[in-house]
Amino acid sequence: MSSLRLPGLIDIHVHLREPGATHKEDWDSGTAAALAGGFTLVLAMPNTQPPITDEASLQEVLLLASQKARCDYAQYVGAGADNAGHVAALASRAAGLKMYLDQTYGPLRLDDMRLWMNHLESWPPDRPIVAHAEGRTLAAMILMAQLFNRPIHLAHVSRAEEILLIRRAKEKGIPVTCEVCPHHLFLSQEDIPSIGEGRSEVRPRLNTPEDQRCLWENLEVIDCFATDHAPHTLSEKDGQNPPPGFPGLETILPLLLTAVHQEKLSLDDLITRLYTNPRKIFNLPEQPNTWIEVDIDQEWTIQAQEFFTRCAWTPFEGWSVKGRVERVILRGQVAYENGRVLAHPGYGRSIREIGLSLSSGA
Ligand code: NCD
Ligand code: ZN
Ligand code: ZN
Repeated sequence: MSSLRLPGLIDIHVHLREPGATHKEDWDSGTAAALAGGFTLVLAMPNTQPPITDEASLQEVLLLASQKARCDYAQYVGAGADNAGHVAALASRAAGLKMYLDQTYGPLRLDDMRLWMNHLESWPPDRPIVAHAEGRTLAAMILMAQLFNRPIHLAHVSRAEEILLIRRAKEKGIPVTCEVCPHHLFLSQEDIPSIGEGRSEVRPRLNTPEDQRCLWENLEVIDCFATDHAPHTLSEKDGQNPPPGFPGLETILPLLLTAVHQEKLSLDDLITRLYTNPRKIFNLPEQPNTWIEVDIDQEWTIQAQEFFTRCAWTPFEGWSVKGRVERVILRGQVAYENGRVLAHPGYGRSIREIGLSLSSGA
């Protein structure tokens, strides 16, 4: 057995479904899944019910999180058609501003580029903006980063044309960064028959094996890995109009460690994209006395029934992987150990609120 110590991982893109859809996930189950997956800090997306777009909804979700989160967290606010004027006032308490620019799950979507510009004008230049932008929408967003001369982070990049365009943009000095999700690195359209049509629904969609290969070939262009943990129940995925999204918190690290064994990336590549770059891009504080311990040689089979996510399935069911989280230490406390989540609901801290009690008790 070879135990290895890594930094507490950071997932910059998760959907915890509370308020509004706690049958899929809530702050308790979602942050338990995060700890089991090796994450000590998660940034939660605003496409809840109601969506997080104003002072009242932000207050509501931060109260729920403070009572239920088991790991540290921050909450994004969503860009809406008519909130550019006041959402910017929430910037210092938010993980960042999320702009949905293509159709996906939830009501937040901005079509007219004047709305994009309103948000880009009012959101503080030193606070993160994340965009769900695919294909030519992504190209338009890269133009916005140049026009407004401000950083923009591009979520879940999945196609060859996208990663190659981002490469060019970076070469020109345009301030864009990007993340790629495990399902676009490890799955393609060819896996749809075995996963099933409804269960395979995800935005961006699973793409061609060539897109998948191109992501691996351009690893240096990928700033972060993120799960886009998007839990929906099996009855929803197998029913009429299956909603898009895969859970991912408990599978990303073993999948990537398996790829490290296969020499598709180095351990350093992994730490850069799940810790160092997320901290830099999102200006996240250090979590004192925090690390994870991983048995990098343990071989095991992925089984959703062992997971903490409430959605109770994974597109990676039955996969053989090598590398397993043994222990998670969060601010000096054992938060997870060998299949048991030990941090209680409410132990998690909000990393954007004040200099934070992060250092207290450390
Ligand atoms: C996400 C969800 O379910 O909230 N679904 C998805 O397929 N990725 C929304 C999103 O991240 O676009
Ligand atoms: Zn998205
Ligand atoms: Zn998402």
